[in-house]
Amino acid sequence: MAGRLEGAHVLVTGGARGIGAAIVEKALVEGARVSIVDRDEAGHDLLVALDAGERALFCTGDVRRASDIGLAVETATRKYGPVSGLVNNAGRNVYADPVTMTEDEWEDVFAVDLKSAWLVARAILPGMKAAKKGAIVNIASLHADLTYPGMFPYAAAKSGLVGLTRSLALEVGKDGVRVNALSPGYVETALVAEFFARADASLRDKVLSVHPMGRIALPAEVANCVVFLLSDEASFVTGANWRVDGGLGARFAG
Ligand SMILES: NC(=O)c1ccc[n+]([C@@H]2O[C@H](COP(=O)([O-])OP(=O)(O)OC[C@H]3O[C@@H](n4cnc5c(N)ncnc54)[C@H](O)[C@@H]3O)[C@@H](O)[C@H]2O)c1
Repeated sequence: MAGRLEGAHVLVTGGARGIGAAIVEKALVEGARVSIVDRDEAGHDLLVALDAGERALFCTGDVRRASDIGLAVETATRKYGPVSGLVNNAGRNVYADPVTMTEDEWEDVFAVDLKSAWLVARAILPGMKAAKKGAIVNIASLHADLTYPGMFPYAAAKSGLVGLTRSLALEVGKDGVRVNALSPGYVETALVAEFFARADASLRDKVLSVHPMGRIALPAEVANCVVFLLSDEASFVTGANWRVDGGLGARFAG
């Protein structure tokens, strides 16, 4: 199946670790040139570990800032040409209380988990529209449909991201650009390790026990679906929200 992204330039936000790093690795295997935008310098080490050489580029940047995004997109475009596949993956968890949460905290969550996807899309869409071809994948969450107490207002931001996906898909469909969301359930990353670390040690077992497949996802299993959505194999898929949750969202309590 290798070579599905041959000739593509894929930009992954938050690609230094976790799901983003798995997407970077998979996109390289499929033949893409890959740019990472992340504020974590570990992205450099990832590219060394993947032996990416000249096939990948790491740009330090904070996706909350349009100026950082502009600089990164300019650098990446100069090296590999216009971005043809964008993965808005950078995100953060939040464990706020609806009464004590400050407006600054609220703004920060929405800046990372929602606004950044529009800012990056805004920067790369002129290139995609000129090429009459492109694919955007926004990494949302199962929280867009179902949520969990104590994670206010994560579900609101991720639901917004799915709405943004639908709107953008309609705006740019005629330009040959597809826009989809992908909603993971639980994935084995540092983000989820931090979530489990906040709770009783038995929570992980409880979570596994309600999973139809008895386990949670590996980052590579999410990356496989992202590559599909970026590739021409998904040529008639747009405006959709793909769940990659091992069936968790199909289950009633009990
Ligand atoms: N892990 C899960 O179970 C899970 C489930 C559903 C959705 N998601 C979503 O998947 C995405 C990736 O999650 P993950 O588990 O790999 O997280 P992670 O914390 O392991 O990695 C997130 C990456 O995004 C980067 N990042 C965060 N804020 C940034 C900013 N302002 N500017 C630039 N880079 C920034 C981080 O440096 C990090 O490299 C997130 O959007 C998350 O909400 C994760």
